[in-house]
Amino acid sequence: LRARDIENIGHGPLYRRLQTAIKAVIDDGILKVDDALPSERDLANELGISRVTVRNSMRALVEEGVLVQRHGAGTFVAPRVEQALSRLTSFTEDMITRGMNPGAVWIEKTLGHASPEEAMALNLSPGTEVTRLRRLRTANEKPMALEYAVVPRAFLPSPEEVEKSLYDALAKYGKKPERALQRLRAELFDGETAKILGVPDGSAALYIERRSFLANGTPVEFTRSYYRGDSYDFIAEMQVDA
Ligand code: GLP
Repeated sequence: LRARDIENIGHGPLYRRLQTAIKAVIDDGILKVDDALPSERDLANELGISRVTVRNSMRALVEEGVLVQRHGAGTFVAPRVEQALSRLTSFTEDMITRGMNPGAVWIEKTLGHASPEEAMALNLSPGTEVTRLRRLRTANEKPMALEYAVVPRAFLPSPEEVEKSLYDALAKYGKKPERALQRLRAELFDGETAKILGVPDGSAALYIERRSFLANGTPVEFTRSYYRGDSYDFIAEMQVDA
């Protein structure tokens, strides 16, 4: 990272440009997961800028989830989550497996009627009662994804049943999904979703749509999620045809 790199990056206050420059260094793989960043003082000296500016950029990057501060040890590139595509698991399980604390910030928890799109996805007649759950999913307080789940009311009588985990709530009624179809595609966070996730407007998102089914093939869930493109790697194992 050189002073020149920061001058050439975009507009806006210096700390924002330094923030962008540090992110670029990480995106280019020059700084990798768990690598330590130089100390505030070293970086400020090297770039000929104030420590306050460096501190502000670092703080913004910690808030964004790009860096983590470890007490007494310094600042490091935050780990990305690696998620297998072949196993049907819940967000809660995924985070617990990684030793992280799953959390949710509720945006919507209501009963409603299936829209034509939802009805089609869930194999219901339009207008059938459904439970709608919209929440920000967090791991160790860091925002990870925005999820919007729709479940037929027949399987989840009240949205209040879901305290934390949707799959745990479904399991209580013996309706935990056993199979799922998933579609992934690249999108960009728009202003509103970016704000909820605390990432810059227009940053990369991975849109994931999941339809999950009971063992007998009945659809139980239609979920549309936006995962942070800067925090997730999706991994799949592949084999040649037999
Ligand atoms: C993942 C899936 C969702 C699913 C959720 C259940 O996030 N993308 O489709 O609804 O897991 O997780 P939990 O049981 O923690 O609510």
